[in-house]
Amino acid sequence: MSLFITFEGPEGSGKTTQIRLLTEALHATGHSVLATREPGGTRIGNAVRSVLLDPEHVEMSPRAETLLFNAARAQIVDQVIRPALAEGHIVLCDRYADSTLAYQGYGHGQELDELRALIEYATGGLKPDLTLYLDIPVEDGLRRKLGAGAEEWNRLDAKQVSFHETVRDGYMQLIAAEPARWHRIDCRGPIESIHLKIVQAVETRLQQIREETP
Ligand code: TYD
Repeated sequence: MSLFITFEGPEGSGKTTQIRLLTEALHATGHSVLATREPGGTRIGNAVRSVLLDPEHVEMSPRAETLLFNAARAQIVDQVIRPALAEGHIVLCDRYADSTLAYQGYGHGQELDELRALIEYATGGLKPDLTLYLDIPVEDGLRRKLGAGAEEWNRLDAKQVSFHETVRDGYMQLIAAEPARWHRIDCRGPIESIHLKIVQAVETRLQQIREETP
């Protein structure tokens, strides 16, 4: 049975590890799984990713940034995600359209309705069946991502923290607007217990889809 699951959340919430564990668990129960990520996941997408994430590209305009994320998205949807779903795979994607709404929209203040129209164009209207929000306090996530001790943390720009708080508030609004699609997972505990919560959320959604399918 095909299923499209996306993972969202702040930096350092452990998405990569959890996607790997979920892939293994789904394989073990006989599902075919394709795990990918945004921006990236295709040759063209990876080229766009390196343009987007290059720290030297300080002059990048917010609209150019948004278009590049969505160019990579259009490519991965057409080249990877739609074909995999058509073949009956479960597709796991590390970030998807909600990241654009949270980061470019809520975070950088771009017009949400314009972003929604652009996302509709880039994805051809493909929406996830389930979106897992891996939730940890912003400061914990940034600290994990930096891999640094308390001393290093003290030098972190407060602006960076407040930007990520705004992004998180944006995610909370997205979740509130579409509660049936989202599942929020508290990621403060041990890796294994977070994994079990994720497996349970996926199994629940699979069961719902089985019941909805005539
Ligand atoms: P990445 O190194 O993949 O980080 P993470 O492990 O947190 O996913 O970098 C992706 C960055 O790009 C991350 O900061 C979120 C951001 N992003 C956007 O701003 N808009 C988008 O549409 C997407 C897909 C990602």
